Parts: sequence; structure tokens; C-alpha cells
Amino acid sequence: TEGIVIAIDGPSGSGKSSTSKGVARARGLRYLDTGAMYRALTWWMLDNGVDVHDSAAVAAAVGRPVIEMGTDPAAPTVSVDGRDVAVEIRTKEVTGSVSAVSAVPRARELLVSAQREIIDAARRECAGIVVEGRDITTVVAPDAPVKLFITASAEARAQRRSKEIRTGDVAGTQAALELRDKLDSSRAHSPLTLTSDTAELDTTGLDLDEVVALVVELVDEAA
Ligand code: C5P
Repeated sequence: TEGIVIAIDGPSGSGKSSTSKGVARARGLRYLDTGAMYRALTWWMLDNGVDVHDSAAVAAAVGRPVIEMGTDPAAPTVSVDGRDVAVEIRTKEVTGSVSAVSAVPRARELLVSAQREIIDAARRECAGIVVEGRDITTVVAPDAPVKLFITASAEARAQRRSKEIRTGDVAGTQAALELRDKLDSSRAHSPLTLTSDTAELDTTGLDLDEVVALVVELVDEAA
């Protein structure tokens, strides 16, 4: 029998990473953070002096870095050319440039095919995988038996993200987050969208354990 695929999309700060990891741990599944792959590619572009707003330059360079993902939900990893970049990909510079890189079709083609390989391996080799991002329910794994769109109010998302990055500037964080969501939702190539075959889960006012329990229930129903 083949492993199960759980596809989760949603805007920044919606809690989808923590939820996805929690669900994967609870059910012995692998975990893939596709946002980390776009961030790793963006980090490499910045580190190599590629102008991220020059889409032709980005497209020409996308095949150069080797991006590898570790899918253990207890200790996920991301590396570029053998270097662990877990810390580097969370900087302001990368966060501010990632939407430009992820809008380049050639970058998406390459990462989507890498994501599908990781998903196929998990389906063959273990109980399955939880995959989170912006286009998982629509493009990467549209046939997944469990498809979720996790949201929360902009205020709640800004609060969570501010805690995560340890800043008191909640208003500034909210503005940056809303700008990134606007870019990710309005781009021409696979924008973040909620489609009618995907369940929406608004987590405003819920804590992580409650959200994980809800999603685990959906996974058990589908398994
Ligand atoms: O999930 P995270 O906030 O780390 O994602 C970083 C960025 O990567 C997003 O803002 C978006 O531009 C891009 N992304 C994407 N498609 C995905 C996952 C992330 O375009 N499946």
C-alpha cells in the first residue's frame, strides 16, 4: 500500500508549519516545508550576487545550487551545496526577497519537480508525508486525500510571527507579512489560492494542540 499525502497551504504566520510538523509527528509521517526550499534558493541567489528582481537572471541560475531537504518532522533540515542553511534562510533579507524568486516560473518548475520526487519516495517507503506551502493543494499534490487551507486573522498571524522572530514591532511585522501575502496571492504563476475542493481551517483563537488534534482527526478519517 502507498503512503498518504496531506497537502496544506496558507498565508504566512497561519501556523501551518507548526501544525504540519505536529501532525506528522503524531502519525509517523514525513514532513516537507516547501517554503524552506524557495528560501534556500533565494539565499543562494543573494549569496551569489544574482539580482532577485531580474527574473531572467534568476531563471538562468536556478539549476546551479543543489538543495537538499531532510524530512524528519522532529528535526527537519535544509542544505544548499552541502551547507546547512537553516538559520540563513530566516533572515529579513531572504524573507524580503523570496516572493520575487518564487514568482519566476523556471524556479517553480524546478522546485515542484524536486518536491514531487520527495513525495513519491515517502509514499513508497513509509506511511506518507505532510507537505506545506502555497501551491501544494493546487499544483504540487492536487490529488492528495487530505487538502487544507490554514488561515488566521492578519492580527493573529502578526502576533505569532512577532513572537517567532522575537520582535516587539508587531505593526511592522504585520505590514511585511501582508505585503508578502499580497505578492504570493497575486503572482501569475501558481498563486496562493483556496479552491473549492480544499477545506478551510481558521485557527484564530485556537492553540496549536487544538489545531493539530483537528487535523489528525481528518487524517485518520482519510487513512
Ligand atoms: O512558508 P514560508 O513563509 O517560509 O514561504 C516563503 C515564501 O516561499 C513564500 O512567501 C512564497 O513566496 C514562497 N513559497 C511558494 N510556494 C510554496 C511555498 C512557499 O511560492 N509552495
